[in-house]
Amino acid sequence: MMSRMEEKLEGRKTGIDGEMLSEIGLAAQKILSGELVGFPTETVYGLGANALDAEAVKKIYSAKGRPSDNPLIIHVCDIKMAESVVELNWRARFLMDTFWPGPLSLVLKAKRIVPHVTRGGLDTAAIRMPDNPIALELIRAAGVPIAAPSANRSGRPSPTDAVTVREDIGDAVSMVLDGGPAVVGLESTVLDVSGEDPVLLRPGGVSKEEIERALHIPVLLPCDGESTKRSPGTRYRHYAPEVPLVLTDSSYSSEAEGKKWAWIGTSEPEHSPAVKIIFRDTEEYAKELFRALRTIEKSGAEIIIAQIPDESGIGRALKDRLIRASGI
Ligand code: TXA
Ligand code: MG
Repeated sequence: MMSRMEEKLEGRKTGIDGEMLSEIGLAAQKILSGELVGFPTETVYGLGANALDAEAVKKIYSAKGRPSDNPLIIHVCDIKMAESVVELNWRARFLMDTFWPGPLSLVLKAKRIVPHVTRGGLDTAAIRMPDNPIALELIRAAGVPIAAPSANRSGRPSPTDAVTVREDIGDAVSMVLDGGPAVVGLESTVLDVSGEDPVLLRPGGVSKEEIERALHIPVLLPCDGESTKRSPGTRYRHYAPEVPLVLTDSSYSSEAEGKKWAWIGTSEPEHSPAVKIIFRDTEEYAKELFRALRTIEKSGAEIIIAQIPDESGIGRALKDRLIRASGI
């Protein structure tokens, strides 16, 4: 019998043409010879290296200027490859079958084959199967799991297209595969399923409610103080635009007074800003946020006033990224 995941993948058109296939082949060779490759996923662009090659993975940390205790997500193309790097349990298998390929990273006990650098010294590792045909074909062609953080310099908004990857870390990568704009636009959900209860370490493309509906049990949020221990990435200020960002639950903020200000949100602002980016709904706000932040930086605006979204669905992840961007 076919699993749900197999059914999802069956008969799917990958849309990869011959030219892209040969580029992917070249990129796979680079991965196998220890180089870094930029590639698209459905969430954001990744900066990939062979997850099992400690020297290659070290290059990721130096290209990004990333602290060495912040572990990477390991990207796989099927369950068999996932099993080669982590200890699977029944709950993880169920979540994989339900949400993979897709924006859900699962934290599980790592197998010894995973070098310490890849997991930032932890005894667990995060794994996911991205929902992007180019990413999946790259992993398949390389035949090894690919460790990849978002392909931005540490502290910058994540890149959602190939041009931004080149702008940010172009000198460190030998190649960037161009798969067009990312469809989700925010990073994957990171869920710890290594223990008794599932714990949401980072909200992302799959919502807490969707996971709870699938598992029929509550997903816990990390307790204060514990969250930085469990998810090292949350310790660092992230997604910082060069222009200060202020959150509002109304349609203006007095912080904008006397300044050249930019507005982002789903409704019209009061007063008229120098730059205004209005999104159709929360989904579009989430998808376009990082691009919008970079556009505003280039506009010469002095401050960004951002509307706080509803916390349901992707709104929780969007609010999380906005709060980090605001440096609160
Ligand atoms: O959507 C995504 O997840 C993108 C694309 C490229 O797949 N990748 C991404 O990676 O956002 P990065 O490195 O920017 O974020 C990885 C997050 C960090 O917050 C890190 O701390 C957490 O995952 N993480 C990785 N391994 C972990 C582990 N073993 N335990 C707890 N958290 C872990
Ligand atoms: Mg990142």
